[in-house]
Amino acid sequence: MEKRKVLITGASRGIGFEIAKKLANKYELILHATSEQSFSETLPNTSLLCADFSNHEEVNNFCKSLKKLHGKDLYAVVNNAGITFDKSLIFQPEDEIDKMLQINLKTPILICKTAMKIFGLNKKGVIINISSCVGESGNAFQSVYAATKAGLIAFSKSIAKEIGILNQDHNIRVVTVSPGFIESDMTDKIPEGEKANYLKMVPAGRFGKADEIANAVSFLISDEASYINGSNIQINGGIL
Ligand SMILES: NC(=O)c1ccc[n+]([C@@H]2O[C@H](COP(=O)([O-])OP(=O)(O)OC[C@H]3O[C@@H](n4cnc5c(N)ncnc54)[C@H](OP(=O)(O)O)[C@@H]3O)[C@@H](O)[C@H]2O)c1
Repeated sequence: MEKRKVLITGASRGIGFEIAKKLANKYELILHATSEQSFSETLPNTSLLCADFSNHEEVNNFCKSLKKLHGKDLYAVVNNAGITFDKSLIFQPEDEIDKMLQINLKTPILICKTAMKIFGLNKKGVIINISSCVGESGNAFQSVYAATKAGLIAFSKSIAKEIGILNQDHNIRVVTVSPGFIESDMTDKIPEGEKANYLKMVPAGRFGKADEIANAVSFLISDEASYINGSNIQINGGIL
């Protein structure tokens, strides 16, 4: 059977780890986190490729290694790694702004650039960029985070169009997934009072679970989703 490798960034915990668990029996996985020590559990059929995405040189080396070690069989990329520093823009230090832009937006762009070259040669491939509901709605005290996530949506739609122009007879798709509030380390940091306010915005009456995002990613990567391209898939319990 054809070998299909899938890169998942930020796969050590939260949504990324659930995606890895869901895909582990179907694909060969390349799992990423800042370091090998970030992984507390090992999954079968996986290799690790670690880098601190706030460091430009590490990102460049990561992209080079991805192409060199896995280019031939790379079938999909899930750009999931992301961070947030929630506070008013007035009090946001510039280094936090730089880190959010670098980790959440610039790094996925560079990984997509590498993947586009590989997928162009292979004539197939899937890119899933993990955005957020706030990338469309905006959110107080998350202005820069929301901007990075909005950027990912527009970027993904643009490269989906560009790939269609550059490649003939291809099977390459680019999709964004925008979760709502999902239980993870990222949302654990939100103070209880604020969490209660967020919950009021969710018609489903609860926060989502990481495996509810993983289920959708698993489908979107598969051939069953072969005509879903350029879309932003919202998974948020009904937040409008
Ligand atoms: N949770 C939510 O409610 C929610 C909602 C909408 C969108 N999202 C998006 O979904 C994605 C995953 O979120 P999550 O809640 O699962 O996050 P999480 O539990 O905080 O996990 C973050 C992942 O990103 C990696 N990471 C952090 N800093 C990094 C850096 N400097 N360089 C490289 N990797 C780094 C972490 O690796 P280490 O373990 O090595 O630190 C970890 O694997 C993010 O893009 C987030 O914006 C989440």
